[in-house]
Amino acid sequence: MADMESFIPALHKPASLLPIARHKDALLYTIETFPVTILIGQTGSGKTTQLPQYLEQAGWCNDGKVIAVTQPRRVAATTVAKRVAEEMRCQLGQEVGYSIRFEDVTSATTRIKFLTDGLLLREALVDPLLSRYSVIMIDEAHERSLSSDVLLGVLKKVRKRRPELRIVVSSATLQAEDFLRFFAGDNEVDAAAEAGGSIGRIISIEGRAFPVDIHYLSDPCENYLERAVKTVFDIHTTEGEGDVLIFLTGREEIETAIDMIADRIPSLHQDADKLLPLPLYAGLTTEQQMYVFEPAPENHRKIICATNIAEASVTIDGIAFVIDSGFVKLRAYNPTSGIETLTATPVSKASATQRAGRAGRTKAGKCYRLYTEAAFDRLAEATVPEIQRSNLAPTILQLKALGIDNIARFDFLTPPPAELIIRALELLYSLGALDEYAKLTKPLGTRMAELALEPMLAKCLLSAPSFGCLSEMLTIAAMTSLQGNIYFSHDSKKAEETARRKFAVEEGDHLTLLNVYQAFVTKGRKDAKWCQQHYLNFKSMSRAVSIRNQLRRYLERFGIDVSESLTGPDVLRAGGLPMQERIRRCLTSGYFAHAAMMQADGTFRTVDGGTVLHAHPSSLMFNRKADWVVFTEVMETGEKTYIRDVTRVEKGWLVEYAPEFYRVRS
Ligand code: CDP
Ligand code: MG
Repeated sequence: MADMESFIPALHKPASLLPIARHKDALLYTIETFPVTILIGQTGSGKTTQLPQYLEQAGWCNDGKVIAVTQPRRVAATTVAKRVAEEMRCQLGQEVGYSIRFEDVTSATTRIKFLTDGLLLREALVDPLLSRYSVIMIDEAHERSLSSDVLLGVLKKVRKRRPELRIVVSSATLQAEDFLRFFAGDNEVDAAAEAGGSIGRIISIEGRAFPVDIHYLSDPCENYLERAVKTVFDIHTTEGEGDVLIFLTGREEIETAIDMIADRIPSLHQDADKLLPLPLYAGLTTEQQMYVFEPAPENHRKIICATNIAEASVTIDGIAFVIDSGFVKLRAYNPTSGIETLTATPVSKASATQRAGRAGRTKAGKCYRLYTEAAFDRLAEATVPEIQRSNLAPTILQLKALGIDNIARFDFLTPPPAELIIRALELLYSLGALDEYAKLTKPLGTRMAELALEPMLAKCLLSAPSFGCLSEMLTIAAMTSLQGNIYFSHDSKKAEETARRKFAVEEGDHLTLLNVYQAFVTKGRKDAKWCQQHYLNFKSMSRAVSIRNQLRRYLERFGIDVSESLTGPDVLRAGGLPMQERIRRCLTSGYFAHAAMMQADGTFRTVDGGTVLHAHPSSLMFNRKADWVVFTEVMETGEKTYIRDVTRVEKGWLVEYAPEFYRVRS
C-alpha cells in the first residue's frame, strides 16, 4: 500500500466519460449563438461541474469576465466549487471560487464563481446589470427556490440592456419549455414562430441511469425513523455492496437516526462489514461534510442520513440503496399569524422519483419508500414554488432596492398570491422600510435592503445606535445569523446542560447569546480547551466573530459610528436605561411582528391568537415564566411549532415601537 500513496487518487471518473461530454460542441455553439440556453439533464450528468469549465476554456472569461453559477443551497455552492477547483488543479478561491452569505472565497483571479442565488440577487444591488459576468448559469432551476425565481425575472430585464450576456438555465427535470417560454414571452415575433425563436434553445443531455427497483410498504408505518433504521440493518445483512442514502427532513432527525444506528451496531456479527453513519445537512461545516463524499474505507458501508440536499444539488458516488421517508421540510408562511415555518411536508412525485434515481447512478439499485404505493399515488405531481408559500418581505425589499417599484407588474415565472404581497408590504411599512406610497425610505429602507440580514433583524441593527446598544446588537445579529450549532452535542446531555446554564441570562436567549460571545472573545478564542470545557463549537464561534466583523463593515460603509466604546452620545440619548433593557427594547423595535404571549399552561400564543407556540427545549424560556416575548427563530418538529431564540419584553413596547402594526390588527 505504501507506494500507492505516490499515485494521484483515482477518485475522479474521467470527465470525458460524463454524459455532457458528447454535447460539448453543441452546447458551446448554442451558447455562442443564442442569449438563453436551457440545459436539461439527470443529476450526475456533469451540468454543474463541466459546463463552466467548457465555457472557461472557450474564452468566456477573456477580458477579465467571470462565469457565475448559482445554487439554491450554500452546501452545494461550496462542495461543487471545491470539486471544480480540484479538477482544474487550482487552489479554491483562485481561478475557481465560491461566495455565500458571510463567506467569500474568491479573488481578483477568479474566473468561475459558484454562489447562492440569493447572493447574486444581492450583487445586483451594487451592479444592476451584473456586468462582471459573461455567462450566468441558474443551476437547479427546477427547484424553484424563491431567489432563483426572482433572479430569472431580473435576468430577463438585464438581458434587454445587455444583449451579449449569456444565460444558462439548468434543470434536472423537464420544465424546459416553461423556462424558454418565459424568456421568449413578450417578444411577440419569436413567440409566434416557435417557443424560443431567436431567444434560445433547449439542450437535453440524456444521463445514463440504471434501473432502480422500487419497494413500498404494504401498510403505512407509525414511525419512519425507526423504520428507516430497521431497513438499514435489513439491507446490510441481506444485500450486496453499496452505500445507503436516507432522506430525512432535518438536522434533529438526522442526529437521532445516527444515534439509533450507532446503538444497534454492536448487534451485528463481528465479522460483518462495518456501518459508517454520516450526516449531511446544510448547517454542517465544509470539513464535516467532506466525509460524506469520500469513498468508504474498506469493509465499511456508508449510511448517509441527508436532507433534501442530496436529492439533486450534490452528487454522492457509490449509492446503491435509497431509503425515502417521503417527507421534506418546506417553507410555509402563514399570512395571518405572520409566521414562517419549515414544516415537514409530503414530497411530490417528481421529488420521490428524483430521490429514487440517486440509487441508480453507477449500477442498478434499490429504493425503499417508507410509505405505501397508494400514498405515492396521492402525492402532488410537483412541489409548489417557494415564491407562493414564503414571507415575501425580504424579496420585496430587494426588488424595491433594484428599482422595481410595481411589484404586481414584475415578471414572475409564477406570480405570488396577492395576499402574500400585501402582508409583506404591511410589514415593511411597519418596520419603516417603506413610506405610505410604498417607496423605499432613505436611509433606513435602502440600508435594510443592503444589509445581508432579514428585514426584522436589519431593523434591529440599524436602530441599535438610538438605543445605545450597537456593539451588543452586532453580536446578537452575528450569533443569530450563524447557521449551525454553537454547542457541541455531547454524550452526556446533563453535562452539556450544566455547561450551557453557565451562560444563561434570565431575560432570554438573545442576552444569553451575547454572554456566550463575550466569554468566547475574552477567554475561548485562544484557548481550545476552554471551548471544550464549555461545550462550545470553536469553528462556529469563530464564524460568529467573522460575521460580526462583516456586519460592522457594512455599518461603517453607511457612515454609522461603530466605535465600540459604550459611552458615546447615543447612550446618553437612550436615557440611562440598563443595558439589558435597551437591548430588549431594540429587539422589540425589529421583531414586534414576532411577539407572543404566554398562556397559563406555559405555551405561547401569537398576537392574533391563532397559533400555539412552544418554547423549544434548548431555549432559556423553556419551563420559565414570562408575559410577553419576541422571538427570532421558529422551528417545527412533529406537530408542534417551537420558538427558539426568545426574549422577554413588555407589552407596552410593542405599541410604542409599532403603533401602525398593532392598530391594523386590533
Ligand atoms: O450537475 P449535474 O448533476 O449534472 O452533475 P455534476 O454535479 O456536474 O456531477 C458530475 C460528476 O461529478 C458526477 O458523476 C459526480 O460523480 C462527480 N462529482 C463528485 O464526485 N463530487 C462532487 N462534489 C461533484 C461531482
Ligand atoms: Mg448539478
